[in-house]
Formats: sequence, structure tokens, C-alpha cells
Amino acid sequence: TADLLASGPLRGRHVIVTSGPTHEPIDPVRYIANRSSGAQGTALAGALAALGARVSFVTGPASVPPPPGVDVIAVETACEMLAAVQGALPADAAVFAAAVADWRMAEARAQKLKKAGNGALPVLQFAENPDILATVAQMDHGRPPLVIGFAAETENVIAHATAKRARKGCDWIVANDVSPATGIMGGSDNTVTLISDTGPEPWPSLSKTEVARRLAARIAEALA
Ligand code: CTP
Ligand code: CA
Repeated sequence: TADLLASGPLRGRHVIVTSGPTHEPIDPVRYIANRSSGAQGTALAGALAALGARVSFVTGPASVPPPPGVDVIAVETACEMLAAVQGALPADAAVFAAAVADWRMAEARAQKLKKAGNGALPVLQFAENPDILATVAQMDHGRPPLVIGFAAETENVIAHATAKRARKGCDWIVANDVSPATGIMGGSDNTVTLISDTGPEPWPSLSKTEVARRLAARIAEALA
């Protein structure tokens, strides 16, 4: 493997990968989170490292272990993830595979929220989290030359993902259909469409490992 790394097409390149969910505390014992195992981001980080890249792997609390050969930066919240990504810059490419919670508590409680006892329900106030992908994609100085997002959609997948790519200002978006009927969430396979400035390119249904290998190869090609 030492030879492979020394000669890999991404040797000397630095790639940032975000992965996993974020956890936004409600109080010391509860949190808001997205469903994400971290499997696709982990596979991608491993595939990039296997091509010789130095990988900064910024991960929320995932249910799969990080791949070998990457620099792991563990975070909990979206705000921490943004700070970790900014701290890892500059990079040749950045791939945002994390399922970031869109909202956090406006003010997380310092103490455990207790039941009122009379059936009265708590009302939680939210604040919107920073959009990490959009922040990096729209940097005026030091933007990575290749910025890639993921779009997990449950309907109108290509239309929503194409609009998302334009709105966020990223170069590529990897779109996938995560409607419950597909069984993709938590599964080992993924059916994605790569959307770039040349339009949507549907990929066949592949294992998450194979999606990762192909995407890593495309990144290597684009940076060559
Ligand atoms: N993303 C991010 N920071 C956020 C939200 C999303 O970096 N606060 C990134 C994700 O990692 C992914 C892409 O943006 O690469 C798209 O995430 P998604 O949740 O599909 O997009 P949103 O803009 O949050 O739109 P939606 O309302 O559909 O959730
Ligand atoms: Ca979202």
C-alpha cells in the first residue's frame, strides 16, 4: 500500500470530507439529529485516501467507524462542523456528505427539561444552522477548486438537486432518492445521479463502496 499511496493520482492533494449526522443539544440529555449512518461519507473518505489524498474527515456522531488513513476531526453540532471545516482549509476539494441538522435550539437548556406535571407541553424555539456547503462554495478567497454536495431527496429528485446546486453554488451535486420505498437509508446500496455543469448523469445502482470509488476517481480526474 505504501507504493500505491506514493503513486496514487491524488498524492499531494488535500480533500475535506464531512460525514455523519450532527447532534444539536436540546438539554444535557436530549438532542435533535438527522438519520445518517455516515456510511457513504466514510466510504468516500476511504476511497480518496486509497488514491493517495490527504483527507480531513470531519465527522459527526456516526454509527460506522472512520476509515483507516484519514485525519479524523470529530464534532457534534453543525456550528462545530463549520468551524472544523474552516480550520481544515485550504483544500483542493471539499465533499459535503454530512446530514447536517437544519435547526438547533435557539438556546439549549443548561438543565434537563422537566415535565410540567399537569400535561403542559414544552415549546422549543429553533434557530437555523449555518449552511456549511454554501459557506464554503461561496467563499471569495481560498474556495477549494472543487466543491461537491450531496442532495438526499424524497421526491422530484433531479429537479430539487439541480436547484440546490445552483442555490448553493457548488460544482457538483450527488443526488439520491431516499424515499422510504427505495430502502437506501441505512442500506448498503445507493442509486445516485451526478449533477455537474453538463447536466445530470445517472449512475446504476451500486454498493456505497463502489459509488465512493467512482466518485473518488472522478475527483482525481477533475483535479489532474
Ligand atoms: N449542508 C451543509 N450544511 C447545512 C445543511 C446542508 O453543509 N446546514 C450540505 C449537506 O452536507 C449536503 C447539502 O448541503 O451536501 C445538501 O443538504 P440538504 O439537507 O439536502 O440541503 P438543504 O439546503 O438543507 O435543503 P433541505 O431543505 O432540502 O434540507
Ligand atoms: Ca437539510
